[in-house]
Amino acid sequence: MFQPRFARPVEAWTKRQTIRARGARVIRPGDLLDLREWTGLPYRSKQRRLGLAECTSVDPVFIGQYALPVSVSGEELCAEGREHFARADGFENLAQMHDWFSRVHGLPFTGNLIKWQPVNGAPKSNATVLDACCGSRMFHFEKDSPDILYVDNRDGVFSSRDPDRRGGVRVARVQPDIVADFTALPFADGRFRVVIFDPPHLGKIGDRSIMRAIYGRLPKQWQALIEQGFRECFRVLAPHGLLIFKWNATQIPVSKILILTPHTPLVGQRCGKAARTHWLIFKKQGEQNERKETTHD
Ligand SMILES: C[S@@+](CC[C@H](N)C(=O)[O-])C[C@H]1O[C@@H](n2cnc3c(N)ncnc32)[C@H](O)[C@@H]1O
Repeated sequence: MFQPRFARPVEAWTKRQTIRARGARVIRPGDLLDLREWTGLPYRSKQRRLGLAECTSVDPVFIGQYALPVSVSGEELCAEGREHFARADGFENLAQMHDWFSRVHGLPFTGNLIKWQPVNGAPKSNATVLDACCGSRMFHFEKDSPDILYVDNRDGVFSSRDPDRRGGVRVARVQPDIVADFTALPFADGRFRVVIFDPPHLGKIGDRSIMRAIYGRLPKQWQALIEQGFRECFRVLAPHGLLIFKWNATQIPVSKILILTPHTPLVGQRCGKAARTHWLIFKKQGEQNERKETTHD
């Protein structure tokens, strides 16, 4: 049973673990978990189902008194691992997780880390195509195909001034099926036959610019983001599946992008103003493709 603050990430399958004190109910891998939230005060309000899940692992977890030691199955996590762990558990950072545990359970804390995967409560569990960063789905001919799972790390309506539009405002509606990060996709290996990957391609744009509202913005460490994005897209792609990749080379040439993945595209096409937009199709092999030289720049 989850408190309302954790309901959204549990429902979106971005939180797929929980830490519980050891209690009377023993949970084992393979158990069916009925994930629910209290709609008001615990034990006094109605429950709402967030999803049905299958437990994948149960491991002993220890959270130390001064935030530093966090160990899973007796292995202490490194600094980065602790932050990642806190975020995976639905907190903004380790400090917030530490504060929560110290208030709710008291520290040091010993319990179980329970992980799960969706059974059939996940949206569009039969979809064979993943759009890993769908934005406002501009390039989709069918805007809500039951066969496509639309993912983005933003969910909202973003507007910006645009003198070329009637009313002077351009609006981007980004409403994915699941809010998730393409650097840590909440899907099993080989889950999709086709993955579409059209990440942000601009780093130097204003906070309130139209481009930012529509496409998002690359962080300073964009190489790490795109590299991990490729890795995750290929991980969730089935063997022999296709990855459709789009890149606009206005600020960063595609040659600097292609070195971020060991995979080699099968075919590619340039289009758009002055042919800056590249469409590339990769095929995932059983074994990883060896990278070959490519003529795209
Ligand atoms: C170039 S736009 C996609 C446009 C889309 N293909 C369309 O047809 O409208 C890039 C999208 O990636 C999203 N994005 C940026 N970083 C992300 C991340 N780490 N995980 C998931 N989505 C991300 C942005 O919010 C933005 O909507």
